[in-house]
Amino acid sequence: MKLRELKDGAHLKGKRVLVRIDANVPIVKGRAKDSPHGRIARGAVGINWLLQRGARVIVMTHLGSPNGKHISAYSVKPIAKRLAGLLGTRVKLTRSVVGEDVTKAVKALQDGEVLLLENLRFDPRETQNAPSFAEALAKLGDMYVNDAFAVSHRAHASVDAITSELPSYAGALLMNEISVLSRLGKRSKRPFVLALGGLKMTTKLPIIEHYISQLDCVLVGGALATAFFVAQGKAVGRSVYEEEAIQSARRLLKRFSEKIVLPTDVVVVSSLRRDAKRRVVTPETVRENERVVDIGPKSVKAFEERLKDAKTIVWNGPFGYCEVAPFCAGTREVAKAIASRTGRALTIVGGGDTLPVVESLGLADKFTLLSTGGAALLQFLSGEPLPGVEAL
Ligand code: 3PG
Repeated sequence: MKLRELKDGAHLKGKRVLVRIDANVPIVKGRAKDSPHGRIARGAVGINWLLQRGARVIVMTHLGSPNGKHISAYSVKPIAKRLAGLLGTRVKLTRSVVGEDVTKAVKALQDGEVLLLENLRFDPRETQNAPSFAEALAKLGDMYVNDAFAVSHRAHASVDAITSELPSYAGALLMNEISVLSRLGKRSKRPFVLALGGLKMTTKLPIIEHYISQLDCVLVGGALATAFFVAQGKAVGRSVYEEEAIQSARRLLKRFSEKIVLPTDVVVVSSLRRDAKRRVVTPETVRENERVVDIGPKSVKAFEERLKDAKTIVWNGPFGYCEVAPFCAGTREVAKAIASRTGRALTIVGGGDTLPVVESLGLADKFTLLSTGGAALLQFLSGEPLPGVEAL
């Protein structure tokens, strides 16, 4: 996919550049929860690049879903703080999203200085993709950069409508995600292995459907695997799974059973405490009071076997209940197996729950792509266009 990029920064000095990033991260006790490979940290790289070239940078992001109202709990103040730390410079924060005080703040901006607009979603016109809001934003800048892959599945004003108002470019972070992801599909090298975990089948099913003809196998773990066990008529005790997923699982097993690799052993517990007694059992022998929290060692071996010659690997979602460290053992082993293929295979990893696992293993930069996208990644992998990218 060819997108216009800001390659040579020479002409950027003194230019007002509006940059859309996705800094939508959890806010815990007034602080933005953002790791070294988190969304804000990665968005800061592109902002820094612009500042180094003397641009006057106006950063835009959303945070949560305040539904068009100015709610202080959704203020982007913690994001301004995190950005300032990353950039090593002051990040001014506007009180409103657009309006007189914002225009004034932008006017006062000097070359190499950065400003953050208050939460875009405080204005109802953002999610309505309203041209009037896009115009108001566009008046603040000379050009627009979308460096927010993670929100590019939304046809919102700061992602879509704004591109009709200003010369628009793809940021380096977005560009990298799109160019790696575009290597999938017809050009995927075989064996092509898709590894899917987590809970939500409804968002992952379209990915299997989209790639199935090119896939050599789909490794299934997490609550997603439990839905398959139920579809096979197995009792799963108190395990968590998506009720609506059973039907889809049944259909997939009927059509593509030879490609779907389910765990042959699982770890079960009767309490979610980290010191709970763990049993490794076959999926047929889960007791009524137990729940599946991880894949077992035989399954890990079988998954590793499938991955060891793979040339294309896409992984989304943990294979166990990783909120509790001892239940994440299987996921960690699979993560290592995928990372070890990078270089010989195209390895694409994504999903908010996957990032802490790979970071804790020091593997975050050991994949061809660690995507910032959640829903955006799933939509792209399902073959659906992303409005923000289409607009560029
Ligand atoms: C995300 O977290 O997936 C993006 O920031 C998009 O957020 P949204 O689902 O609230 O639009």
